[in-house]
Amino acid sequence: MLPIKSNGYSVFFDNSLTELKNFIDNAAYSKVFFLTDLNTSEHCLPVVNKLLPELDNYDIIEIDPGEENKNIDFCIGVWQMLLDFGADRNSLLINLGGGVITDMGGFAASTFKRGIDFVQVPTTLLSQVDASVGGKTGIDLGNIKNIIGTFTQPKAVLISTDFLKTLDHRQLVSGFAEIVKHGLIADKEYYAQIQGISLEKLPPEIIYRSVEIKNQVVTADPFEKGIRKTLNFGHTIGHAVETYSLKNDKDPLLHGEAIALGMICEAYLSHKYNGLDEIELQEIIRYIRFVFPDYALSSSSYPDVMEFMKNDKKNSSGNIGFALLSSIGCCGYNIYLKEEEIIEGLEYYKGIIKK
Ligand SMILES: NC(=O)c1ccc[n+]([C@@H]2O[C@H](COP(=O)([O-])OP(=O)(O)OC[C@H]3O[C@@H](n4cnc5c(N)ncnc54)[C@H](O)[C@@H]3O)[C@@H](O)[C@H]2O)c1
Ligand SMILES: [Zn+2]
Repeated sequence: MLPIKSNGYSVFFDNSLTELKNFIDNAAYSKVFFLTDLNTSEHCLPVVNKLLPELDNYDIIEIDPGEENKNIDFCIGVWQMLLDFGADRNSLLINLGGGVITDMGGFAASTFKRGIDFVQVPTTLLSQVDASVGGKTGIDLGNIKNIIGTFTQPKAVLISTDFLKTLDHRQLVSGFAEIVKHGLIADKEYYAQIQGISLEKLPPEIIYRSVEIKNQVVTADPFEKGIRKTLNFGHTIGHAVETYSLKNDKDPLLHGEAIALGMICEAYLSHKYNGLDEIELQEIIRYIRFVFPDYALSSSSYPDVMEFMKNDKKNSSGNIGFALLSSIGCCGYNIYLKEEEIIEGLEYYKGIIKK
């Protein structure tokens, strides 16, 4: 598989890790650092060491895993460690982990000494097909996700399915939601192709095509002025329900699980307000419910869910904009809906999971 060219860097597949060694040697970095979390230190660093035994001169910066640590305190910790280990402008940071590590590591690198080089080695399905391209780096502030950040491109992205073997099944399914989304918004044939695949043996070509779709969209519109908004399909409602669940449920929804719910609601809104036909709507619902767990959405959550939607940084002056499908593989954006119309989407979901 040929590398995918993005905004000034490439995304490598297949034996992508061997590229890392070439890359480090060619650039003559003064120091090399790996940013990991406890899980990726345990499961992913050994994979790197096994495939690249000759890469032995690096320092490790390790943080605790989880979204709750994607904050300024941990970021200060990363900057401090870089300083303590003598990082200079010519150092390289390799972010080895899921989206928390690639987002925070990208942010730490893009601001340390006004910016040092970084390479992304995403190790979850979600980070491989979503966080790996697009140049968004960032951290959370309080409850607000990704509110502090930069648009900075990495020097390279290295994708290897070897890492996915140790990933928890629920995380794997969650990441798959972005693959489903990419098919729905941009490629009907690809959407048909993913129907029969086994998540345990996810073919690298499937990940490749997903990255290709995201890359086409983000290179066409790097700063989300237009077509990049189609990547928000399922996310306007999905994000709000995800936030609600994080605050209220003992075992909260994972991102992709919330997006799956959001895609059902927004497919219904696509049908009602953007011409998606009934047959395709039913087909989308059947498949999403086949892959992802149902969520017991209750109408008592609607006021909070609506509030989270209004506060989402993607929405401005109280208007809630949607990306909606006109058919499988075609998505429009900047479609504004009223509160009662959005509630119809939530009600529809509640209705189908009862049946
Ligand atoms: N920059 C972007 O464009 C973009 C896009 C989508 C999501 N994101 C961000 O990504 C984050 C979510 O990413 P995520 O789902 O990868 O979360 P994550 O980084 O928290 O990883 C999920 C869990 O899996 C563990 N893990 C990672 N790789 C593993 C492996 N190979 N084997 C075993 N365990 C492993 C992690 O330690 C963690 O516990 C969010 O913060 C979100 O905002 C960013
Ligand atoms: Zn997402």
